[in-house]
Amino acid sequence: MVGRSIYTTSGKCRQCHKSFQLEKEMTRGKVGYGWNEVPEGSEKIVAYAPLDIADRRWTIAISESMDATTALAQQSTRQYTLNAILLSIVVLATAVYITRMHHLRHQAEQEAQHLHEQRLLQEQLDRNHLQLLEAERFATVGKMAAQVAHEIKNPLSSISLNTELLSDELEADGREPRPEARQLIHSIISEIDLLTGTIDDYLQFAHFPKLQKKKTFLGDIFGGLQQLLQEESASRAIALQFSVHRSLPPFSADARLLRQALLNLIRNSFDAVGNKGRVRVEASGQNGYVRMEIIDSGPGVSPESVPMLFEPFFTTKPKGTGLGLVVARHIIFEHGGTIKYEPTTAGLSRFVITIPLEQIPPREEQA
Ligand SMILES: Nc1ncnc2c1ncn2[C@@H]1O[C@H](COP(=O)(O)OP(=O)(O)O)[C@@H](O)[C@H]1O
Ligand SMILES: [Mg+2]
Repeated sequence: MVGRSIYTTSGKCRQCHKSFQLEKEMTRGKVGYGWNEVPEGSEKIVAYAPLDIADRRWTIAISESMDATTALAQQSTRQYTLNAILLSIVVLATAVYITRMHHLRHQAEQEAQHLHEQRLLQEQLDRNHLQLLEAERFATVGKMAAQVAHEIKNPLSSISLNTELLSDELEADGREPRPEARQLIHSIISEIDLLTGTIDDYLQFAHFPKLQKKKTFLGDIFGGLQQLLQEESASRAIALQFSVHRSLPPFSADARLLRQALLNLIRNSFDAVGNKGRVRVEASGQNGYVRMEIIDSGPGVSPESVPMLFEPFFTTKPKGTGLGLVVARHIIFEHGGTIKYEPTTAGLSRFVITIPLEQIPPREEQA
């Protein structure tokens, strides 16, 4: 074709070129691509673009055999497909992994929740079991206490009555009884008082009432106890102090029974202190609990006695009943609380009570 015009082709030219369409496009200064159609031999793909250099227009064309091009395209398609498959596998594997992890985490969370619920249930069961044991023990002791109290109470009342009659008799007609007689009567009366106290302890068991909770101000209970024990503490030179932290709100409780429990503990402190010393009763509210402490300057509980403190009939006193702490613990237990012996860091004897700060029902709040 060298030296000839594409517009005036001869048959000779047609031996190699089926058409001159591409060449014509190039001379028109177009950009494009096409196929160089050759009657025989391999077909070629041609890409072309015009280029202006020094006021002359040139056309640059690049050609490549179709077979080589398709082989290249096939190769890159294969590569591309392979990459796509690999990518899909990676994405799929990641998705499966994430789903599995999510599932495992969910399973672990559920198991943890299940364990937590089981532990709570177990704790509740343990508490119920303890309460049941406590109730059973209390009922057994209560029955015995009722019998003993019943058998002693009647004769004791008649002894008390007769002693008073005897005392009156001795003083009849304005007679002055002999000092020995007066002394004897006095000691009979104080023994009767002691026995009455014992019976009262027993009766606390025998007629343990159902809790009657209502809005309770601990300050009121403390005030009542202070008044009750004022004379005794003064005569025995015992400094008795009560304090309620002002942050402690009123709470729902059986005030009468709570007072009984505190009185039993304070009486023990008085016994421990003897005739000169200090007894402190403190209350505060913390983390949804009322905390009460009964601290005294007595000798404290000996280590071997500590495990037996709350056993029925355990006493180290010649005339003790060993019931005061059992009753106190039962009352605290009935309020859902705990009581334990826990000496202070300074070594003072201390009983610590905690009771859940129970919400006061709105009906009572208004009352
Ligand atoms: N504050 C205290 N200091 C020392 N010992 C105590 C105190 N409180 C209780 N105890 C011991 O616990 C025992 C049991 O007390 P309690 O059940 O009230 O029965 P009781 O007072 O009739 O002995 C007492 O005998 C005493 O040994
Ligand atoms: Mg006692």
